[in-house]
Amino acid sequence: MTEKNALNIGIVGTGFIAEFHLKSMIGVRNVRIAGIFSRNAENRERLKLLADDLELGPCTTFDTLNQMLESDEIDAVWILSPNHTRLDVMRQIHDAVAEKRSKVFAVACEKPLAKTIAEAREMLRLAEDAGLNHGYLENQIFCTPVLRGKEIIWRRAASTTGRPYLARAAEEHSGPHAAWFWQGDKQGGGVLSDMMCHSVEVSRHLLTDPNKPRSSLTVKAVNGTVANLKWTRPKYAQQLSDRFGGKVDYKNRPSEDFARATIVLEDEEGNELMIEASTSWAYVGAGLRIQLELLGPEYSMEFNSLSTGLKVFMSREVMGQEGEDLVEKQNAEQGLMPVLEDEAGVYGYTDENRHMVDRFRKGLKPDETFEDGLAVVQMLIGLYRSAEIGQTVTFPAEELENYVPVVARVASD
Ligand SMILES: NC(=O)c1ccc[n+]([C@@H]2O[C@H](COP(=O)([O-])OP(=O)(O)OC[C@H]3O[C@@H](n4cnc5c(N)ncnc54)[C@H](OP(=O)(O)O)[C@@H]3O)[C@@H](O)[C@H]2O)c1
Repeated sequence: MTEKNALNIGIVGTGFIAEFHLKSMIGVRNVRIAGIFSRNAENRERLKLLADDLELGPCTTFDTLNQMLESDEIDAVWILSPNHTRLDVMRQIHDAVAEKRSKVFAVACEKPLAKTIAEAREMLRLAEDAGLNHGYLENQIFCTPVLRGKEIIWRRAASTTGRPYLARAAEEHSGPHAAWFWQGDKQGGGVLSDMMCHSVEVSRHLLTDPNKPRSSLTVKAVNGTVANLKWTRPKYAQQLSDRFGGKVDYKNRPSEDFARATIVLEDEEGNELMIEASTSWAYVGAGLRIQLELLGPEYSMEFNSLSTGLKVFMSREVMGQEGEDLVEKQNAEQGLMPVLEDEAGVYGYTDENRHMVDRFRKGLKPDETFEDGLAVVQMLIGLYRSAEIGQTVTFPAEELENYVPVVARVASD
């Protein structure tokens, strides 16, 4: 295909992550936010205004997905709607492109790619069947400290003393903002599917030789534990119910608010590698905390998203409204608080979108595709199965193909 001067993006979803993506796009060249689809007029207008304010438009709103797909304005769709809507959105994109009603040629999808392995395979099949270029939106592999840290470690240390062997990742906050995250059937699970998807993929990425594909590492075995540490306590289950107007029944239908994983991998030379990951919705600190480590024979790297260079102190006399203006999932407005000056950059959204836009514009395959999204779901589902049976699951594991995590089996109201 010929290189496009600018990529025209159509957005599906107008929530938390859609705003983050829009804000990050001001650091991306050759892009236009051309369309917003939402079922809700107020949300459509809010996002369109934001796109216009950021000078990312001109942007048109659509009240059906098909209208957006069929408008000649859109080259690529960013799927930023909840996990249980993925397949339906992808099927509509597939059908519109396959039936030549749409000129869309690329699709990018937020994490996790799907709730089960079968669904993830279908997402990949639909994209390929329609001839679409595809990108999996795992922002952590584009975090600026990950980009810089991986580059230094592999160039200076691994090249002279040997490859890294252990990656540790932890992502924790005090709980998600919308009801569907807490409903196992809609989200696909609890914190394991919501946040461990980041941890396993950023770890796999850090351990992968930059000159080799991600497939140069093979998963040999996974061992997982899940638990409910905080949100099933009566007071907190009630808080969830009150906060979400009775839609979340965490007392009777909890998912999990803690998950731990050990993943054994092997590289092409037969070296054993290890991922240790831990995620929770039960962490009350200043805000979202991402902790990453990479260890090798003569070196290590570490990053903690709350150990910021910039901190502010506000005494008890400073009164104000609750907000998320200092750090994502902020828990306080007083005292000594860390501040990320450029959250969209540090969390990876800017470089992620720059990469996807660039590759799609040039007709090239992104570094992170639906195939990687599928590999992530395979690890997550293996971990759920391991937690259920209390044993390590060795890969390849045929029995995982149609496996549904226990907490995702019962439909919420
Ligand atoms: N990379 C990250 O760190 C990160 C962080 C947060 C979320 N995410 C991912 O991003 C996705 C969205 O999460 P979020 O936090 O933005 O959720 P959210 O705040 O609940 O927003 C979701 C939006 O999706 C739209 N929507 C709901 N049902 C839909 C349907 N059937 N078809 C089309 N749109 C629908 C809703 O818009 P309307 O009601 O206006 O249609 C809503 O505004 C999830 O997959 C999540 O896992 C990623």
